[in-house]
Amino acid sequence: MVIMTTTSSLAFLPVLERIAEEMQHTPGRGRAADYIPALAACDPRSFGMAVAELDGTVYGVGEWRQPFSAQSITKVFTLALDLAREGDELWEHVGREPSGNPFNSLVQLEYENGIPRNPFINAGALVVTDRLQTRTGDAAGQLLDFLRAESGNADLDFDLEVAASETAHGDRNAALAHFMASYGNIDNDVPTLLDQYFRQCSLTASCADLALATGFLARHGIRADGGRLLTRSQAKQVNAVMLTCGTYDAAGDFAYRVGLPGKSGVGGGIIAVVPGRCTLCVWSPGLDERGNSVTGVAALDRFTTLTGLSVF
Ligand code: DON
Repeated sequence: MVIMTTTSSLAFLPVLERIAEEMQHTPGRGRAADYIPALAACDPRSFGMAVAELDGTVYGVGEWRQPFSAQSITKVFTLALDLAREGDELWEHVGREPSGNPFNSLVQLEYENGIPRNPFINAGALVVTDRLQTRTGDAAGQLLDFLRAESGNADLDFDLEVAASETAHGDRNAALAHFMASYGNIDNDVPTLLDQYFRQCSLTASCADLALATGFLARHGIRADGGRLLTRSQAKQVNAVMLTCGTYDAAGDFAYRVGLPGKSGVGGGIIAVVPGRCTLCVWSPGLDERGNSVTGVAALDRFTTLTGLSVF
């Protein structure tokens, strides 16, 4: 049953309140990521959810203003920042097909000549960060500036303890980067690239911040200040890659349940886009075995079911 279709400000607050209430009774909330020790201490029962309207109005429920580790959600923003600069040439270096493999998998890279399947698995994100680094000299800094501007939160920052924790346990990402470098698909030296990538992943932001920062994808490429980051066509492309690849090897199930472009991170956050209408961010640190927030996916599933809003 669709219970909400109005477009007035705070239109979805009653829906969010209902979802927050329902999520308190959800059995099985998964486990916080423990392969990054600094994330392992998160309480899997934490829950926050925010909606940002196209005009920058933002509201939410639960811990929607609590900062958390954005992790792979940042891959959306580095993709957009690089695509805006280099356009279609990017797609010669990273594909746009679902991988069907875990986000940190090495297995396809050898028989696909060092070209990662998509920008949202680690290998693909390393290529995007590398290319943004080549173009700007400070990929992580570009990301931080962009997120501060779009969220209106000048206090957003990296968590250097999380970045150091990942660096200390970063053998898999280092292997991916070196392997792609052997195919000539990485320009920068690997330690520089990994430093940029791990800082990028460590960005700490709230549901409110990330829902606002995602707004350009609901506004067909237009930033919060009215300037254009992406062409309408590029915004469509990023949304499409989010839909098909944004939740790793669970992207099919996410599309089936939620029906929106979305991107998850192992910090337990998920952003989602209703093109032309609003953006969402939900956070709950308990993950399923594929690295997606159990309660986050359930909450977005309920949102699209209750509102009838999806791209289908
Ligand atoms: O590369 C990693 O393992 C993490 N910093 C990011 C992980 C994540 O959120 C999912 N990865 N695509």
